[in-house]
Amino acid sequence: MKRRDFIGLALAGGAGILLGEFLVPKILRRQRPKPTANPSFHPDVELELSAGPSEVQIFTGAPTRVRKYHARLLKGPSETLQVLEDTYLGPVLRLKKGQKIRIYFTNYIPQDTITHWHGLHVPPEDDGHPRFAIRKVEKYIYEFEIKNRAGTYWFHPHPHGLTGPQVYRGLAGLLLITDDEEQDLKLPSGEFDIPLVIQDRIFDGNNQLVYLTSRMERIWGFLGNRVLVNGKPDFTLQVRRSVYRLRILNGSNSRIYKLAWSDRRPLVVIGTDGGLLERPVMKNYLMLGPAERVDLWADFTRYNEGDTLVLKSLPFSGASSMGMMGRGMTGRRRRRGGNRVPQNGEELEILRVKIGWKPGIKPKLPEHLSNPGWHNIKEALNLNSPRRFVFAMRRMRPTINGRSFRMTAVADDEIVRLGNLEIWDLVNSSTGRGMMGGMMQMPHPVHIHGLQFQVVERTTSAGWETIKEGFVDNGWKDTVLLMPGMRVRVLLKFEDFEGLYLYHCHNLEHEDMGMMRNYLVKA
Ligand code: C2O
Ligand code: CU
Ligand code: CU
Repeated sequence: MKRRDFIGLALAGGAGILLGEFLVPKILRRQRPKPTANPSFHPDVELELSAGPSEVQIFTGAPTRVRKYHARLLKGPSETLQVLEDTYLGPVLRLKKGQKIRIYFTNYIPQDTITHWHGLHVPPEDDGHPRFAIRKVEKYIYEFEIKNRAGTYWFHPHPHGLTGPQVYRGLAGLLLITDDEEQDLKLPSGEFDIPLVIQDRIFDGNNQLVYLTSRMERIWGFLGNRVLVNGKPDFTLQVRRSVYRLRILNGSNSRIYKLAWSDRRPLVVIGTDGGLLERPVMKNYLMLGPAERVDLWADFTRYNEGDTLVLKSLPFSGASSMGMMGRGMTGRRRRRGGNRVPQNGEELEILRVKIGWKPGIKPKLPEHLSNPGWHNIKEALNLNSPRRFVFAMRRMRPTINGRSFRMTAVADDEIVRLGNLEIWDLVNSSTGRGMMGGMMQMPHPVHIHGLQFQVVERTTSAGWETIKEGFVDNGWKDTVLLMPGMRVRVLLKFEDFEGLYLYHCHNLEHEDMGMMRNYLVKA
């Protein structure tokens, strides 16, 4: 053990664990409840967004009570809002790089909430930090410019301790950004550009959603026994014999998917969290942790009319402990909601594709997709001394470097300078030694707010042989899946905005239990 690790552990074991931690002064916290619009901000797009109770017909019989985002366009192109039918998912927001957007958000659910734009590079007060959570019937006004590359982003609630249940009950939506570079490519668009949000749920006998009850279950994260796509069970995608762009979001609270086509044709990846890759990449399977996105080029012209294809999640190992207590918990889960709940890593069917008739033209897969505009690692300030963030369960408590979330606290190692390029090591410290070690081996999908980063290096992990080909590490990312024992080295730059941002585990139960911290960008 390196001396540094030893110090880290020693601190984590202490009672107070708050070494070097302090509350950020008011000026940097920018406690700005935004009840009024800024008259000097001139939006291209204006919309009203609300989160409220709703009902959807998911199964025959009783409708399911959900929470849902509704939106109304006040100003801007009519294609900005695409409402999805019969689902709890919010409308798809279609925006363009360079647009200025103002959103009047109102909370109509009986809990505090705030909306976060996952993956977007926005000022801290527009990022949906939990310190900005508003009560029922209160309003929050967002005003920001779209600075991100074309890509598949999303929005969801972010109140502290309640993100898991609020997303689970339905609050989530896609936010698709386009730009000139992407438009020039003439990728499949319109009906050939299909968003697919994968989530898992449990329903009771009366078609109502069942969430977690015990602390033990929360520690593992919620796992459901029904896979929903775009809010629908047993999802079938009717396609023509043509080429599609499939934008896949893992919107699950904690389930990980190992995506593959049933006929073992490779998946053609054209984009990741932060937009298009430089060139397409072929994968036999793809690992997709919570909050990660992947953009696929799906060529259905090689099939015959009437063929059926299945998008599956293949089995993999390393994600769940099969220790004695683990089995006990599984047993409990099995009883609830009737059907057995598959563990992370068990095979699942995600959706079926039914091939229809063939239209005239067939788009060609571009060899070159985009210019990612990579950072130069040699310019990294801490090239030889990466910052290190260890994600670990300590005495059944999710921690980062031994600490848990405090609303406006940052520690010394969580302060960065505006304009700097840095290397961070994100470490999943599951050791797997002994009974508790084995018990607490779990994946952590790590998300950093406010920016997109590059993956520089990824080490092996538990279950490595079964997952190793499934990572796309040559695209912009905002979330990376850390399997037990894995370290991922990332390169990130803090640009444009000063203030408090979050980084956290996107297993929403881990996040709610405090596996989340602030980092402070200082000029
Ligand atoms: Cu997708 Cu902090 O969130
Ligand atoms: Cu985010
Ligand atoms: Cu986690």
